[in-house]
Amino acid sequence: MRKNIILLTFLLIVLVSISVGAEDIVLNYYSHGVENGTRMDIIEEFEATHPGIKVNLVELPQDTNKKLQMINTILQSQDNSMDIFDSDVTWPPIFAAAGWVEPLDGYLSEVEMDDFLPGPVGAVTYMGKVWGVPYRTDAGMLYYRKDLLEKHNKEVPKTWDELIETSRYIMEREEGIKGHAGSWAQYEGLTCNLMEFVWSYGGKVFNEEGEVVYNSPETVAAVSTMTDMINKDNIMPNGIVNFYSGDARAPFFSGKLVFLRDWPSGWRKSQNPDNSQVVGKVGIAALPMGSPDQRSYSTLGGWQVMVSKYSDHKEEAVEFAKFRGGKEAQKMAALGLSHIPARESLYSDSDILEKMPFIEDMFPAFVSAYPRPKSPYYAEVSNILQVETQKAFVEDKTAAEAVKDADQRIKDLLGQ
Ligand code: GLC
Repeated sequence: MRKNIILLTFLLIVLVSISVGAEDIVLNYYSHGVENGTRMDIIEEFEATHPGIKVNLVELPQDTNKKLQMINTILQSQDNSMDIFDSDVTWPPIFAAAGWVEPLDGYLSEVEMDDFLPGPVGAVTYMGKVWGVPYRTDAGMLYYRKDLLEKHNKEVPKTWDELIETSRYIMEREEGIKGHAGSWAQYEGLTCNLMEFVWSYGGKVFNEEGEVVYNSPETVAAVSTMTDMINKDNIMPNGIVNFYSGDARAPFFSGKLVFLRDWPSGWRKSQNPDNSQVVGKVGIAALPMGSPDQRSYSTLGGWQVMVSKYSDHKEEAVEFAKFRGGKEAQKMAALGLSHIPARESLYSDSDILEKMPFIEDMFPAFVSAYPRPKSPYYAEVSNILQVETQKAFVEDKTAAEAVKDADQRIKDLLGQ
């Protein structure tokens, strides 16, 4: 009898847990890859604190353009299997204008958005509404070899001309070294790198009124400098026109580059002895200026989570969005992935400062990072900039022609 009672109780427990399990809501979260496990730790922490909601991570492709294509296709087909997704800072106008994403104003209190930096908040705000919860900000930075600059008695360059000069000086004295690299392949990374040159020479794509003003002597000077760095000054590694961010990091990590333009996420990798030979030898500074009367510009990058309009679990997806953008998850990502927090209060967190000491000095650069043009046609505008700039890189066109043609094509696209 007693045995039967124990057995029955056991069966009851199994049944209850199965039925509770069956009621779990599973969110499909289209995300960056798992990488070193930190993203899964964040998900596990969410699940542990939010019983009844499970999160299934679906990995997006590595290249930013391919991520956008995939999300675009899913949303366009009104597919309800994607609940929530990682969105680049430039995507909210694209998806909001199409009506494919859920505005989050009704779900978020003002207090909840209070601690976020202005750049990420600006990026998720469009047509007066909030379209995502930022979980990471990003800004271009100059990585440099502290040891090499010291050895050759050189300062951290303040202008692109100085960077070229110092590169050439060190290249002449060190075997097998090149000067600089960045993400110059034809994809979104190139637009980010290009804009830093263009802005720092005083050029821009649009004026305040939204008119295309890309074709200017300032922009031509910026594109000429980049083109010369490849073809005339010869400070870029061979194949730079095909370099994604990983390709630019590789020679720097193996000690074959003096400078590197990268995002903060490269820091953790540069300081990991398993894949870097420059541990302890890397400094970080603001990117150089074009002309000395300009200022340094970093492209604002970063990511947020956005909720699909076609999700059947919007409330739960917002719960996850809040957690993903919350302090705890952002701290986990800062420590595990060297992701720069989108929340101001985390910049005084001692664990984060210990792991990424540069974030204290670089805080002004993160806060003043400059956004790419905000437009529902952003992807097309960016593509034109990439294609035309690459034509100058491979000397199919002069810098002046490439700039003029990009300007005209963007005007045609927007009917200006
Ligand atoms: C980084 C940035 C993102 C940018 C991308 C380019 O992920 O955070 O904003 O668009 O790089 O590849």
